[in-house]
Amino acid sequence: MSLATRPESILWDDWHAVAQVETFNYGERFETALFGHPLVVTGEPGNIAVAYAGGGPPLPVEIKYGLVWTCLGEPTREIIDFPEAAEPDRYVFAAGSLGIWTSGLRLVENFLDLAHFPYVHTGYLGTEAFTEVFPYNVRVSDDDEVCVTDCRFEQPKASAIAANSIDVKYGFRVMRPYTVVLEKTNAVQTHRTDTIAITVQPVSEEQCVGHCLALTLKDGDPDETCRWYQRLITGQDKAILENQMPRRLPLDPRAELPVRADLSGTTYRRWLADHGVRYGAIPVTR
Ligand SMILES: [Fe+2]
Repeated sequence: MSLATRPESILWDDWHAVAQVETFNYGERFETALFGHPLVVTGEPGNIAVAYAGGGPPLPVEIKYGLVWTCLGEPTREIIDFPEAAEPDRYVFAAGSLGIWTSGLRLVENFLDLAHFPYVHTGYLGTEAFTEVFPYNVRVSDDDEVCVTDCRFEQPKASAIAANSIDVKYGFRVMRPYTVVLEKTNAVQTHRTDTIAITVQPVSEEQCVGHCLALTLKDGDPDETCRWYQRLITGQDKAILENQMPRRLPLDPRAELPVRADLSGTTYRRWLADHGVRYGAIPVTR
């Protein structure tokens, strides 16, 4: 099989982030890839272009939430949208992009997994004194999103500004195969939530870039600190993910033993299988 492939329409005909505007060096060529196809990003402020590295007509480009988006197929829907981005007391920014040597599907599944918090994010998102994952609910919504609700976790430092350990409430939504959103209690305004999203750029079946989007309340939380915090957390996940084999995500629920805490992950895998996703996955064999 050629390294460059054309995956299922649900992936191919969607928009994907390929660069972060803030770190893009205008006047230079930024080389990247999508589904194994080498791409080049070029341009000047206000005029960024994306094309196949081997030549050809320019690809469609949109700039949204500080990211450069393109689509290799025929876009069948709009770029992901967050209505809370319009709230004046929120920062809305691309909080960092990190290359990880694993399938983008594994990155999404890792984001849904609460059980690893005390071990991988010790002192931040969890502590080894509180390793229990309380029961939560998972369903596929009418909008065809995997919704994980009523998650609770005791976190020593739930965000960059959190001074004390708080009982954090979480909700997750998998909006699309490569986009997962976390809504969690703000450390100061505990009746409101911060939104953190990961949208994954599938570089190849076993390599991805995780682009982090933050829509966080401005309440005392400088966006630079939030960036630092997200980089720290994602860096901890990178080390774990790159040691996980196989790199492609097995969709067969029998492939890895399901436990209660893995309910969100198994629902995500079944949802991917139901949508015929094979790219970066090990399909179910019957
Ligand atoms: Fe993590």
